[in-house]
Amino acid sequence: MKNIPVVFKHGVSYTTRFVSKLPRCTDIPRIDHKGKDALVWNLSLSRRSKVDKSDGDDKGKDKCAKDAIADRNIIFVAGLGGIGLDTSREIVKSGPKNLVILDRLKKPETIDELKAINPDVNVIFYPYDVTAPLKDSAKLMKKIFGKLKKVDLLINGAGILDDHQIERTIAVNFTGTVNTTTAIMPYWDKRKGGPGGVVANICSVTGFNAIYQVPVYSASKAAALSYTMSLAKLTPITGVKAYSINPGITKTTLVNKFNSWLDVEPCVAQLLLAYPTQTTKQCAKNFVKAIKKNKNGAIWKLDLGCLEAIKWTKHWDSHI
Ligand SMILES: NC(=O)c1ccc[n+]([C@@H]2O[C@H](COP(=O)([O-])OP(=O)(O)OC[C@H]3O[C@@H](n4cnc5c(N)ncnc54)[C@H](O)[C@@H]3O)[C@@H](O)[C@H]2O)c1
Repeated sequence: MKNIPVVFKHGVSYTTRFVSKLPRCTDIPRIDHKGKDALVWNLSLSRRSKVDKSDGDDKGKDKCAKDAIADRNIIFVAGLGGIGLDTSREIVKSGPKNLVILDRLKKPETIDELKAINPDVNVIFYPYDVTAPLKDSAKLMKKIFGKLKKVDLLINGAGILDDHQIERTIAVNFTGTVNTTTAIMPYWDKRKGGPGGVVANICSVTGFNAIYQVPVYSASKAAALSYTMSLAKLTPITGVKAYSINPGITKTTLVNKFNSWLDVEPCVAQLLLAYPTQTTKQCAKNFVKAIKKNKNGAIWKLDLGCLEAIKWTKHWDSHI
């Protein structure tokens, strides 16, 4: 009797031998085939096996890739910056139904320019500072959803690079991304009857390997990347997909001149720009390619005019 597999209705089986191999830990639920603990244990195993198998990817599901932009409603936070504006230009060419740009910058002439590129696209602008309290982000989402009824894609692209501004760097580059995503979740979360959605977060190659002279910026981008990877793993629960866009050094005012942490390297910008870079146009074209791939959990590197899906190395597993 001891090693007879126990099969639950969710299709997971284990034997007591398998269970006995698990590490000793007071957090591991007591095995009681009849009780509530067994159900929790079973659901946890079931979820883990589902998540691990897919690894967050949509292999073989990219056939309708073009549809990730065409006829869709897209919110683009920071769609008027250096990388943002060229990407907005590429996005409108691909024919979304609505492109809602949220930015701290107000550039009415640029909104007109975007409308002129493709008059079939409704380009809307709302001023938005991502450091606003979460309740303000929620109010703005309510306004947008009231107008459009549904949104398919949220792009979070706000960023600053100035390691003299420690708290603001974290507030814009990380908390802003988390808050804006949190504010949209009630409209998308399948547990609330929502239809799901897609989040594309602009992180950075500095989240892979830091520019150590700007450790605050690099860490803020690593945090945004980690957050995005978790979002993608949560898809089976929320119905919301996520991937990260990680540009290499791209010629914008962001990298032209910036402060290192405690001035450890006063020439950091010049040193960085002595190496090959890419243009915002190159970055934007690959950005749109990545959006069209619509691949949950993808970690896209957009460097030197190339688009590459990065394979992340797992060094640890929570097993839950
Ligand atoms: N340029 C690069 O080499 C590079 C490399 C990797 C990642 N990135 C990231 O790409 C994104 C765009 O950077 P960029 O190079 O185009 O710089 P940029 O300075 O031209 O654009 C930054 C954008 O963020 C917006 N923004 C800044 N603070 C904001 C706030 N509080 N609220 C709302 N919006 C805010 C700006 O208005 C602007 O639209 C940033 O997240 C940046 O960190 C840039």
